[in-house]
Amino acid sequence: MRVMIVRDYDEMSRRAAEIVKEQILKKPDAVLGLATGSTPLGLYRYLIQMYKNGEIDFSRVITFNLDEYIGLPPEHPQSYHYFMFENLFNHINIKRENVHIPSGIAENLEEECKRYERELKEKGPIDLQVLGIGVNGHIGFNEPDESIETKTHIVTLTEDTINANKRFFKSIEEVPRRAITMGLASIMRAKKIILLASGKSKANAIRETLKGKLTTKVPSTVLLLHSNVTIIIDKEAASLLTDKELTNVELID
Ligand code: GLP
Repeated sequence: MRVMIVRDYDEMSRRAAEIVKEQILKKPDAVLGLATGSTPLGLYRYLIQMYKNGEIDFSRVITFNLDEYIGLPPEHPQSYHYFMFENLFNHINIKRENVHIPSGIAENLEEECKRYERELKEKGPIDLQVLGIGVNGHIGFNEPDESIETKTHIVTLTEDTINANKRFFKSIEEVPRRAITMGLASIMRAKKIILLASGKSKANAIRETLKGKLTTKVPSTVLLLHSNVTIIIDKEAASLLTDKELTNVELID
């Protein structure tokens, strides 16, 4: 596992954008795995800028999003569909048919999970997966539990996650209680993964991830088993790391 500790959120976003750019330049029809949340917003702003400057072309790029809230239609401002179009897709030349996001309003949600998994298999593997991390170590919406389903599945969100995400809704009652998420196996099939984290609220999750011990109580620890993961964190997110965690990783500039 490589860890890059950078000055601040902007630097984290810029470095991540450089990695995504490099991937698209190397493979113009790259399959990107994308995340939502406040963390990748800066990355998406840089990608839009790079597109506008003519540095990258998304016309052949394929994307798969990690997750979606159950019950929110694509036009709901807090749905991950809406988020992705508003913050990235509407500003670049990606083709609508190349965008994949699970539907949170499918009539048969179990079937929707299977369909998404099939699409991932057909069009994948993902060349570069972008991840954020929850305060409890969740990736996508794979929440801490005794056991975790490995394929795309329906999850019940934990109190930690509902509390962390309520800031986007008018009241906590409006936060959906369930979501569809890509599973850990689906994520781990990606050839390369970058995980971004910024701010003090993520420091504990980052420390738990880098302890070197695999546990379903901290889903992000599954990344310890992947051979090509780069964690890009700012100083605040790195603030609880001690020598013990840092000896487990390769620090890069
Ligand atoms: C959300 C998403 C995750 C995201 C995480 C952190 O609930 N499902 O994909 O990485 O929580 O969000 P934020 O970046 O807003 O802290």
